[in-house]
Amino acid sequence: MHSHLDSVLFHETTILSRLDAMGREITRDYQGKNLTVVLILHGSLFFVADLLRRVNLPLRVTSLDVTSYHGGTQSCGTVTFNQLALPNVQGQHVLIVDDILDTGRTLAAIRGRIENECAPASVRLCVLLKKRLARDIAIDAHYIGFDIGDEFVVGYGLDYDGHYRNLPLIGTLKPEYSRHAL
Ligand code: XMP
Repeated sequence: MHSHLDSVLFHETTILSRLDAMGREITRDYQGKNLTVVLILHGSLFFVADLLRRVNLPLRVTSLDVTSYHGGTQSCGTVTFNQLALPNVQGQHVLIVDDILDTGRTLAAIRGRIENECAPASVRLCVLLKKRLARDIAIDAHYIGFDIGDEFVVGYGLDYDGHYRNLPLIGTLKPEYSRHAL
């Protein structure tokens, strides 16, 4: 798999030491609060597992299955909720965790529905990566692992057509392995 990579942006040790700091920050911020983490499938799986083991709080974890990319590296522009029910987070402080803040459409749609339909005490966003780009949507995350350029990345949960999620690092693919650039 490593031979498919063009470049490595973040090695595992760099990712994990950043997660140490994020875990401390979240532990401090949610002290004494009812925290429910809503992880967004499937991109945040590896990130959330490593991050939450660094958060020293009696939190709850639930998930939300959404689709915003349909194959390759092209966003379809709409966010599909693949499950009928939203998580029950009434009165809870909610931390939504996703792999990457790209156009922001996905997280804006999820946050909107949770705020409007679930009566949470508060909602914050946490992402491993945030792309540096001009967005149509006004959105930002409270907790950000790393800022990156506007390039398609894989690994550590992020996929290309379902592959590469299990790479322990984050990198870009060689052009012959990613047909369409974003
Ligand atoms: P938006 O554009 O709504 O995108 O912020 C959110 C979802 O799109 C996927 N995404 C990526 N996946 N490499 C990936 O493997 C990328 O560079 C990338 N950019 C966006 C991702 O699932 C994210 O939750």
